[in-house]
Amino acid sequence: MKLPLLFLFLVYVLTLSLANIKTVRNSQHLKSLFNDVSSFSLFNSAESGLCLPVLGLGTGFYGINNEPYGTYPECGSEPRGDPPVPPPPGCGPNTQKAVYTWLSKAGGLRLDCANSYYNQRSVARGIEQSGIDRSQIFILSKVSPTFPLGFNETIQQTLDILQELQTTWIDLLLVHWPIMQHPGQSYVPKSTDPACNTTNPLTYNEKQCRLSTWSAMLALFDLGLVRSIGVSNYNITHLQEIIDAGMPLPSVNQVSFHPYNCRTGRADLLAFCQKNRIQLVAYSPFGALDAHQFPVKDQNKRITSLSRTLLEDPTITSLANSYKRTPAQILLRWIYQLGVAFNPRSMNETHMIENLEILSNPFTISDADMIRIINLPQDTCDIDPDWYQCIGNGTLP
Ligand SMILES: *[C@@H]1O[C@H](CO)[C@@H](O)[C@H](O)[C@H]1NC(C)=O
Ligand SMILES: *[C@@H]1O[C@H](CO)[C@@H](O)[C@H](O)[C@H]1NC(C)=O
Ligand SMILES: *[C@@H]1O[C@H](CO)[C@@H](O)[C@H](O)[C@H]1NC(C)=O
Ligand SMILES: *[C@@H]1O[C@H](CO)[C@@H](O)[C@H](O)[C@H]1NC(C)=O
Ligand SMILES: *[C@@H]1O[C@H](CO)[C@@H](O)[C@H](O)[C@H]1NC(C)=O
Repeated sequence: MKLPLLFLFLVYVLTLSLANIKTVRNSQHLKSLFNDVSSFSLFNSAESGLCLPVLGLGTGFYGINNEPYGTYPECGSEPRGDPPVPPPPGCGPNTQKAVYTWLSKAGGLRLDCANSYYNQRSVARGIEQSGIDRSQIFILSKVSPTFPLGFNETIQQTLDILQELQTTWIDLLLVHWPIMQHPGQSYVPKSTDPACNTTNPLTYNEKQCRLSTWSAMLALFDLGLVRSIGVSNYNITHLQEIIDAGMPLPSVNQVSFHPYNCRTGRADLLAFCQKNRIQLVAYSPFGALDAHQFPVKDQNKRITSLSRTLLEDPTITSLANSYKRTPAQILLRWIYQLGVAFNPRSMNETHMIENLEILSNPFTISDADMIRIINLPQDTCDIDPDWYQCIGNGTLP
């Protein structure tokens, strides 16, 4: 990597423009390491001793009005797209309320944000409304994929994220997706980084683009603007590229992870991450009730119903009865016992508290029952490595 010169240049620019970096560094001891709560230790590219609170609130795309979570059209609170389309009304207040409720009422600590959720200003309002000190909140955010990958792009997006979230540091910053262009997506973000410039076939290189982006993440980490860095939706090949380039590894890889996809493509990834001390984090721990509940068609290809969700799965509901817990608690506890952290989304205070209770009022799923859950049928939604969608018909075998 031709990092040093560029790096020095950036250190210079950022030190000039962000005079508060030093203050952030000096007040490090005032920040919580989150090692006194239910959390997993972070390794590789993480501040020494920093821990990741097990439960984070997903802040992406809260439905409008009283529609259930995840209801489409997806709901950010800020204009998005090119040219920008204004958001539907209601998205901002929903996001703010969820964040406020999570921090103030439920006692949650970690927020899972992203530049591409187009709602970080609403998240900041929720934090402000809670009155909780910034140092007591673990903020995770992500760069790309509706914004470009690339070296300078990553630096710039991080500065934007800090501004939007009204903070001087991010606890964990992730690269949201390993690629920018997904099947069926017409809009490809424009990057000035030659390795990420998709319109320049001479310089564009998907792998080099990821590595250039990762070197920017490392620079941000070295500058102290982010306390730890990681990736999201990376498979083993993408992680191996970083190892092969001799670069420091991410502290976290965040992927969709639930009983319906734990064996197809996730078992190997979990083992690989554990071996390399990369903490796996599960998004969609309940099986992505919105995106992955797919229509069941009859022989004439007429939609007859929607597939059952994990919360309705007979194995999960019967375990819920025997452990006297809710199906959601069974799913989260199962993920926790596999050593994986998770980010359920909810706007409902009761559900948030219920989610946190698997740690504050713990129970243990027996080994035999852990295996029963692992052996549930697998859906075909997550076999597409590039994008979060069901391909094929998504049937449970
Ligand atoms: C990408 O490369 C093309 C061809 O060299 C160039 O015309 C264009 O300006 C580049 N895009 C950006 C955003 O720098
Ligand atoms: C990033 O920006 C700096 C300053 O404008 C420039 O010198 C450098 O070439 C850019 N790096 C990349 C990878 O585009
Ligand atoms: C990871 O995804 C890339 C596409 O981005 C694909 O080429 C590669 O085969 C995948 N690797 C694994 C182990 O699934
Ligand atoms: C929150 O969830 C509880 C338990 O499922 C339910 O009884 C309640 O009606 C929900 N509240 C709202 C506002 O949806
Ligand atoms: C769905 O896909 C599976 C596996 O590819 C196949 O066996 C099954 O027949 C398909 N079902 C329908 C209704 O298309």
